[in-house]
Amino acid sequence: MATVTINGTPHMVQSAPDTPLLYMLRNELKLNAAKFGCGLGQCGACTVIVEGEAVFSCVTPVELVEGRAVTTLEGLGSREKPGVLQQAFIDEQAVQCGYCIPGMMMRAQALLQRNPRVSDRQIREALEPHLCRCGTHMRILRAIRRAADRLVEQATPAGTGGRS
Ligand code: FES
Repeated sequence: MATVTINGTPHMVQSAPDTPLLYMLRNELKLNAAKFGCGLGQCGACTVIVEGEAVFSCVTPVELVEGRAVTTLEGLGSREKPGVLQQAFIDEQAVQCGYCIPGMMMRAQALLQRNPRVSDRQIREALEPHLCRCGTHMRILRAIRRAADRLVEQATPAGTGGRS
């Protein structure tokens, strides 16, 4: 048994210590946003945030997150009240099949949490570990740009300028 804080709520989880975090989230806690793609740390579909860092949950055992804070896509907002990044993906209609999107969003969230004043190049570099088979890459990039600009706007007192 391990205690893990998921989206701000502590959970006592029953999964064996070597169980992949992805399986614990999906099978035990029924948090199904993170997806199984390759199971090998090669596609990014399973990405979640562990204390500020984007990690592949398919290759992260539960024992490594004991006592730590994990954020999944469910923690960014809800259907009724989407978070900034979620709203930006909706506004840009950045989803086709949607399978890769939760992982992409968690990688982007970790990036923007560190610094929302990111360049387009930094966004592209951050998303490098993620694969999308449908090909909505340009819309995904635009959505993250939109979210970054919105976060900068929110953090900037009116009249003092935006992106540097
Ligand atoms: Fe984890 Fe592909 S399912 S990286």
